[in-house]
Amino acid sequence: MNQTFYVTTPIYYVNDVPHIGHAYTTIAADVMARYHRSAGREVRFLTGTDEHGLKIDKAARAQGMRPIQLADQVVERFRALWKRLDIRFDDFIRTTEERHQRVVQRLFSRVRERGDIYLGEYEGLYCTGCEEYFTETQVPDGRCPLHQRPLERMKEKSYFFRMSRYQEALLRHIEEHPDFVQPEIRRNEITSFIREGLRDLSVSRTSFSWGVPVPDDPAHVIYVWIDALANYISALGWDGSDSGGELFSRFWPADVHLIGKDILRFHAVYWPTFLLSAGLPLPRRVYAHGFWTINGEKMSKSLRNVVEPHALIDAYGADAVRFFLLREVPFGLDGDFSHPALIGRVNAELANDLGNLLRRVVTVAEKYTRGEVPTPGAREGLEQHLVEVGLRAVKESAEHLENFQFHRALLSIWELVREANRFMDEAGPWTLHKEGRLERLNTVVYDALESLRVIGVLLHPFMPSTAEAMLSQLGLRPEQAELSRERVARWGGLAAGTLLQKGAPLFPRIEPERAQSLLGQFAPAAQEAKPSQPPPEKPQIAIEDFQKIDLRVGLVRSAERIKKSDKLLRLMVDVGEAEPRQVVAGIGKAYTPESLVGRRILLLCNLKPAKLMGVESRGMLLAAGPGGERVVIAEFAGDLAAGESVH
Ligand code: ME8
Ligand code: MG
Repeated sequence: MNQTFYVTTPIYYVNDVPHIGHAYTTIAADVMARYHRSAGREVRFLTGTDEHGLKIDKAARAQGMRPIQLADQVVERFRALWKRLDIRFDDFIRTTEERHQRVVQRLFSRVRERGDIYLGEYEGLYCTGCEEYFTETQVPDGRCPLHQRPLERMKEKSYFFRMSRYQEALLRHIEEHPDFVQPEIRRNEITSFIREGLRDLSVSRTSFSWGVPVPDDPAHVIYVWIDALANYISALGWDGSDSGGELFSRFWPADVHLIGKDILRFHAVYWPTFLLSAGLPLPRRVYAHGFWTINGEKMSKSLRNVVEPHALIDAYGADAVRFFLLREVPFGLDGDFSHPALIGRVNAELANDLGNLLRRVVTVAEKYTRGEVPTPGAREGLEQHLVEVGLRAVKESAEHLENFQFHRALLSIWELVREANRFMDEAGPWTLHKEGRLERLNTVVYDALESLRVIGVLLHPFMPSTAEAMLSQLGLRPEQAELSRERVARWGGLAAGTLLQKGAPLFPRIEPERAQSLLGQFAPAAQEAKPSQPPPEKPQIAIEDFQKIDLRVGLVRSAERIKKSDKLLRLMVDVGEAEPRQVVAGIGKAYTPESLVGRRILLLCNLKPAKLMGVESRGMLLAAGPGGERVVIAEFAGDLAAGESVH
């Protein structure tokens, strides 16, 4: 087996903020990276953002920003989320970075030197959502099959890549490397797509300029997908030489590009043909996972059902989210996200099985072995069996991870969790204590503790903080979670005499009241928001009446809850004056205070000050909706200065 491991995620578009779909791929990549590190390999884990192209340009303009401003803003949202989710990447690439653009041009030139680029003219039906042209036969109704929007007819001079030349070579590669496209169902899709015939690919655009210019012909920018795909080697500093440079020669070809099934063709056809032309090795694997729906519906901004990852982490914690996404659905298949399913798994598997095991074993050790790891005596059948199940979990969880079967790996680990619980029931440490069978008691406690250590290490890639908390309760340094697999596999890693450190429960049960309130909080807006009655008509006013109102852009500097109120928040809002104003707003059921900081709200500034729950409010935040959890604030998406007047 090779001793390096290079894993990538897609680079995400910055026209949209991160949602659980993005989190899913990135968590999966993080688990792979952590697992391979623990197996002693030198790992490189790359993620990043895709910042060029018409789609970003348009989104930025719609918000009154330059594309780079939008990118700078959204990239921080991705970074912040990855931090909260404990994603440990080695590099983060942005396609607007110089180091990336250089490589895109280098790659384009290389392919052109091979005689695989020619100038032609492109005409077709274009979807700016997909950044892709469609043929008339693909879209008989003239609408994008994905976005359902009418396509635009576009015609432009364009450079073409002779993709057709590589049809046979790619087919042969896939036949000779059955692992290249996974899972199998995706490989079959790709093979039949290629067999239908590869046409040359338009790889430049003149209709907009937000991208990397074609070397020697800057009227063209390089097609955003070629630009984006090159990230996998630009981040390795590919220098165009035979060896490609230090990082490149160490880590290329990638061991796996993890992606969603939506972008399979780009990764399993466009990218490899481009690499074949450039004479570079192909990635070892492209693994396309399935898609999440929300309560059975497609995730979509317009349906307002996108699950906001920060809210999810607030409610359940990062590790529960990581666990659920990988446990719930076999990797490769589509899945449905629902809060009842998540709450069910937290309660059954995390609180009951895992949390309970840790608590009861540490409690028994506190009572009967002075809170220390005891010295074990001879093992009987019961312990032998536990050890067997433990060693099997080590072996099988690793095999499943090598095959990207995250849910199976977790199932293998849970065999051990359940076995250890059963072991505690059957070994009956309290009876052993009562009967004074101390050596046997020590053996039982030792092996129960040892199984917790093994579980902690095996779980570390999935739930890093949980695993570290488990190990510190066992008196181990948290770094032990990353002990090499080889040492885990040897039963008996816990040293007798180690002092345990009982801590807080790992996963408190989500009791019914709390579950109810979570379900309310996350109730899908699309389902609940019945169009309310149109408001009664009011008499007309003159523009002078409107001008009496001092409406301004208010930048929220800080926010906190007002004590004894579940609804009222105290905000400090910058409206362009020397000091921020204090404003009280009844939006505490719909928004957490943290989520408001940095937003640009719409503030009525010359309303007579009023006191709410004893706190003075100098202005009124504007919002709409029936109230309670279902209220939505008015806010500006663009880059406006605080205090700007609204007219
Ligand atoms: O396609 N379920 O970026 P993107 C599961 N910039 N995964 C999902 C998902 C869902 N409902 N929605 C999104 C792009 N994803 C390009 C990629 S790569 C060189 C360029 C995940 O922001 C999944 O990994 O649209 C999918 O492939 C990716 O987000 C698309 O992210
Ligand atoms: Mg997409």
